[in-house]
Amino acid sequence: MGSIYFDHAATSPMDPEVLNAYVEAVASGPGNPSSLHAHGRAARERITSARDVFASILNCEASELIFTGSGTESDNSALFGAAMAQRKRGRIGIVTTAVEHHAVLNACRQLEADGFDLTVLRVDEFGRVSVEEAKAAINESTAVVSIMAGNNETGTLQPIAEIGEWARKHKALMHVDAVQAFGYVSFNLKELPIDFLSLSAHKINGPQGVGLLYVRKGTPFQPLLHGGSQERSRRAGTENVAGIVSFAKAAQIAYDQLRARWDHAEHIRATVLGKLEQYLGAERFVVNGHPDHRLPHILNLSFSGISSESMLMNLDLENVSASGGSACNSGSLKPSHVLSAMKLSSERVSTAVRFSFGLGNTREEADKLAKITATISARLRNR
Ligand SMILES: Cc1ncc(COP(=O)(O)O)c(C=O)c1O
Repeated sequence: MGSIYFDHAATSPMDPEVLNAYVEAVASGPGNPSSLHAHGRAARERITSARDVFASILNCEASELIFTGSGTESDNSALFGAAMAQRKRGRIGIVTTAVEHHAVLNACRQLEADGFDLTVLRVDEFGRVSVEEAKAAINESTAVVSIMAGNNETGTLQPIAEIGEWARKHKALMHVDAVQAFGYVSFNLKELPIDFLSLSAHKINGPQGVGLLYVRKGTPFQPLLHGGSQERSRRAGTENVAGIVSFAKAAQIAYDQLRARWDHAEHIRATVLGKLEQYLGAERFVVNGHPDHRLPHILNLSFSGISSESMLMNLDLENVSASGGSACNSGSLKPSHVLSAMKLSSERVSTAVRFSFGLGNTREEADKLAKITATISARLRNR
């Protein structure tokens, strides 16, 4: 057995079918979707088909979808786009949670620096926000509410429908970062009280550098990027045609296999947990995140007495890739803002490791991971 990749929440391997779609789109020749000639029209048709795929999966209209360059861009476009438009109506409140991805949190902080009134909701020890506290924070001056569907470090799911309902009652706009949840959870936008939804291709076995933003028809929105009239003048810039085409392919596969994907990830997660109990002992680690309201592909564990860095370095030496939190934090080794917001002890925060599962992972790998982790743990404890 070679290397083991358990960092799918950071980025996921491309599905071979998706890769084929990507290569086929690139190999089909040049074509700027804005050009009027046959090459351009062919490229435009590809994007139109990809948009139709998403419209059907998300149960929305194709005209409500904007292709972007990343999940981060989708989040920023939603927040700035909504906030700027809402400010013209006298609304300056932004409500979010302490466990959002930095693409949302730092965008909100920038809006605060620009004069918006920011409320960051706390979470409980499982990383879940209280619907009551969210309701209390939303009022007639709220411009945007941004709550993630599923957390990228713990997998904890948030009560987005209940909060969205309340936001709508108060004419505040609701944004949901579904970057981690999409592919495991289905989103029916005809029914969900959501105005903006962010997705990213590379978390669902698609290519890096492509995102999608849903903007409900009639929602006040000001574009982030100005230039050409691409994406109905809501996102300027020549489209990443091959990226978009293969993102749609990845989304279609994920949607068709939603249940199987969930069961597979859940099986790997349960195997890792069961085997760790067997090889290491249940008293040596603790699970961070909600026990029930959670995604299946993320397992955040704290190993008592072993720093995240030591565990990750030793795992890396054994050819196992995992993460200490969100990917962007793993380079800087900062304590996770998500686990800190859950008010876990500093020991639990500084010993946390995130394993995340997906395409290609096997039961054998799960077993091997548990064995390796138990060995590392025993070695480091005996030093
Ligand atoms: C919840 C969440 N939102 C947003 C992002 C950013 O997506 P991208 O990497 O496509 O910019 C990530 C990526 O880790 C994420 O997990």
